[in-house]
Amino acid sequence: MMRQWVAVGTESGAVWQVRDSAPPAPAAGELVVRVHAVSVNPVDTKLFAALRPGQEKVLGFDAAGVVEAVGEGVTDFAPGDEVFYAGDVTRDGSFATHQRVDARLVARKPESLSFAEAAALPLVSLTAAESLFEHLALPFPADGRLLVINGAGGVGSMAIQLGRLAGAEVMATASREESAAWCRALGADEVIGHDAVAGIEADWILNAAHNLNDTLEAMAQAVRPFGRVCALASAKGPVDINLFKDKSVGFEWTFMFTRAKHGVAPERQGAWLRRIARWVDGGQLRGIARTDWGELSPETLARAFEEVRSGRMIGKGVLTLPQEP
Ligand SMILES: NC(=O)c1ccc[n+]([C@@H]2O[C@H](COP(=O)([O-])OP(=O)(O)OC[C@H]3O[C@@H](n4cnc5c(N)ncnc54)[C@H](OP(=O)(O)O)[C@@H]3O)[C@@H](O)[C@H]2O)c1
Repeated sequence: MMRQWVAVGTESGAVWQVRDSAPPAPAAGELVVRVHAVSVNPVDTKLFAALRPGQEKVLGFDAAGVVEAVGEGVTDFAPGDEVFYAGDVTRDGSFATHQRVDARLVARKPESLSFAEAAALPLVSLTAAESLFEHLALPFPADGRLLVINGAGGVGSMAIQLGRLAGAEVMATASREESAAWCRALGADEVIGHDAVAGIEADWILNAAHNLNDTLEAMAQAVRPFGRVCALASAKGPVDINLFKDKSVGFEWTFMFTRAKHGVAPERQGAWLRRIARWVDGGQLRGIARTDWGELSPETLARAFEEVRSGRMIGKGVLTLPQEP
């Protein structure tokens, strides 16, 4: 039996429904994974809030679990493998006991982490890795300064660590003592306030703030000539890209789901997750799960969504799934 926790749009906002059905079979190139743990990301709360009456979606992208079945042509995985992945925004998500996922997006989970700790990693690690090494094009070793705007959130927590791993000097922004301490513990060389960006210089800026418009002018001042900035969250209204012309600065976007959605080299995400797992098991990266919301249910999901929506999460929160005998 498969159980899914489905977000359903109603006139008074989206609600959770629990649905049981037969477990799916994998199509060619797919895995069916028995999900053990998931995390919640801002994209979940945004999609939940956007559901119109009658629309529904199985949310949840981050997952860690055990491969239950492999589809035709899959040679890298076998039943029993312990895996982690962030999946595909266009498909059914991981708030379910069983999930079908394109095998190319998947890697074996770090052996040194529990399922819950592993579930905290995929979406934010892929976002941070693609942003730093593909869009901002940090060389390895990176001789320069990386600024991470929103250092303590999920993406920032991995970007700080990956920036340091690459050899960059890493500055991060935070507004609370607790979030600043978390950034330092992850390796940030210096932590400044979110409103102090205009006063520093950086070669690369990863903007993981929830609102791009607030930080655009400050980034244009802080970025060094021929530097690059990378944004994650959509702008609310028009953005003046001319701000970056004078210094010949590259303005980049990362959308973590582009590879899966448009079918452009999705295997690169499996490869990134293999590297992340290797770095975690080798002690070069640490896990970032800080909040355990307990067993997945409509009640724990509601609590998790409220906390993620608050914009005050430090690191990541996780939920575990009941396992049938
Ligand atoms: N495009 C993509 O592929 C992609 C992927 C992942 C995430 N995102 C987006 O990127 C954003 C960050 O995601 P996340 O998962 O890292 O978020 P998150 O975990 O929810 O971030 C929480 C952190 O936000 C910080 N924060 C609050 N107000 C801020 C402000 N004005 N400026 C900067 N930081 C502030 C808080 O730090 P303080 O308490 O220190 O203020 C808090 O610790 C979200 O909008 C998300 O949807 C996009």
